[in-house]
Amino acid sequence: GRLVVAVDGPSGSGKSSVSKQVARSLGAVYLDTGAMYRAAAWHCVNEGVDLDDADAVTEAVRGMELTQSTDPDSEHIAVGGHDVTEAIRTPEVTAVVSRVAGVIPVREILQGRQRAEIERAGRIVAEGRDVTTVVAPDAEARVLLTASEQVRMARRSGQLAAAASGVDAETLKAQVAGRDRTDSAHSSFERPADGVTLVDSSELDFDQTVAAVLAAVQL
Ligand code: CDP
Repeated sequence: GRLVVAVDGPSGSGKSSVSKQVARSLGAVYLDTGAMYRAAAWHCVNEGVDLDDADAVTEAVRGMELTQSTDPDSEHIAVGGHDVTEAIRTPEVTAVVSRVAGVIPVREILQGRQRAEIERAGRIVAEGRDVTTVVAPDAEARVLLTASEQVRMARRSGQLAAAASGVDAETLKAQVAGRDRTDSAHSSFERPADGVTLVDSSELDFDQTVAAVLAAVQL
């Protein structure tokens, strides 16, 4: 039957890797909503759209032909048939994604596509910042994944070091804090909504965090 698992969390909470593992465990597909906002930002930059022009940004995103794999073992995303799996993770895209995601009609367009994908899949783990509250408030299981700021920064810098991005710790901290601030208006993690299970991963390792999310699915 239908099984929709919604997972929200801030940068560095581990939501992507944890959500993929939860999807594997449940034999479900996986939807990375953040990748869609990143693809939208990449598309606007690529098209030379003025990011201060909300109407132009909205029209660009409305016309964006997006294809995204939902296999937790192979993340692929393309815009107009052009693979942008790696391009959407560059510092240039990361620096502007919150601005594009802050345009309300952009959110409505992407939320509509996300709901359609969730309905189509039926058995899915969907991850982001507003999935538990706005995209899929009717999900069978809803989890807010948090971690202390210290742990989140350490995880983000570990990921970036692995990607050899060369960003120092202070710069990273400022970037993540800035993005969290810009994102806060449309994020579900300021206060856990009714019916949402809070999982704090600060003191949990990866397997323990996955187990805690799976326990919330069984509730
Ligand atoms: O890199 P990180 O895991 O922190 O973020 P992400 O999941 O890749 O999402 C990138 C950006 O997309 C966020 O900083 C938000 O601006 C936006 N986003 C959003 O507005 N709503 C979502 N449901 C998911 C992402």
